Amino acid sequence: MRFIDLFSGMGGFRLALEKNNLECVFSADNDKYACDTYNLNFYENSLLDITKIEENKIPDHEILCAGFPCQPFSIGGFRKGFDDIRGTLFFDIARILNKKKPEIFILENVQGLISHNKGNTFKVILDTLASKLNGLEHISKKEENLNYSVYWKILNSKDFNLPQNRPRVFIVGFKDHNIKFQFPSPLTRTMNLVDIFDKQPEIRKISDQSLDYIHTFLRNHKHNNFIKNLEYLVAYEIRKSRVAFRYDNNSPCLTTKMGTGGNNVPYLVKKNRFLTLKEGLKLQGFPINFKFTNSYSASLRQIGNSVSVKVVDQIIKSILK
Ligand SMILES: C[S@@+](CC[C@H](N)C(=O)[O-])C[C@H]1O[C@@H](n2cnc3c(N)ncnc32)[C@H](O)[C@@H]1O
Repeated sequence: MRFIDLFSGMGGFRLALEKNNLECVFSADNDKYACDTYNLNFYENSLLDITKIEENKIPDHEILCAGFPCQPFSIGGFRKGFDDIRGTLFFDIARILNKKKPEIFILENVQGLISHNKGNTFKVILDTLASKLNGLEHISKKEENLNYSVYWKILNSKDFNLPQNRPRVFIVGFKDHNIKFQFPSPLTRTMNLVDIFDKQPEIRKISDQSLDYIHTFLRNHKHNNFIKNLEYLVAYEIRKSRVAFRYDNNSPCLTTKMGTGGNNVPYLVKKNRFLTLKEGLKLQGFPINFKFTNSYSASLRQIGNSVSVKVVDQIIKSILK
């Protein structure tokens, strides 16, 4: 089966689907740095602005994958078709689905998509895509409906044997309404945060001032005695006004903010260093020999933007069952 990788980033969807013997026939992302990384690993230049791609230039495919940026929809409630979504990146997914009619799509987004714009954004998305929702007739579908049978669920990377708290909404659609889809069940946990620590890490130290913030907030933390000696204690969002901690052997959610520098990168308190690129790759299910051309911060931003490979791997296995 052939697939396309829209908003391809550093290729999380591509890795997972290729692992399952599917063939990528098209990819697109408008971020030069992400495309450099993609090119280095998949030997393909994906630098394209999706809003400018004509549908008929996209090769035929059976599966459309897209981890698209979340944008608000401003509708008055009186329009019933594609006009509601025009000007958003979801519109570009919808117009490609409308023209190419692949058998299956897999979309991914932040958990906040569900409550975004008071739930309106998610409603418009489902109303546009689905004439059947989670196996039942979808009553509030739009007139201009793409007629897919749609399933959605929040899956967290930490339930798929990746030690990272990363809840994401996945939306899977089938052209064939007879298909009964079930999202994958959690995997047995064999890997904790301590298991992914680099043996010979590249050390990036923190400033004395930021270290001071961490220890001040740690002293005042209600679980201070319990957490202060934990090997897997992680400090993140390190600010004078507040420092957040994670102490359940998972990393906090890796985000694009990591690309803006030091205090936005998770900090391993007992190791006295920031997370390394290799650790970031492992937390997202990428192989550690995955290559980057860009700086540490540009690479971290891509890792924070990417989809967790193992979660997509399990979804595609459930689809292909
Ligand atoms: C959430 S990330 C997807 C990451 C990807 N799934 C991965 O595994 O790395 C969203 C991506 O959309 C890209 N993007 C945003 N606007 C775009 C546009 N108009 N055309 C193409 N790509 C776009 C961003 O550069 C970013 O890489």
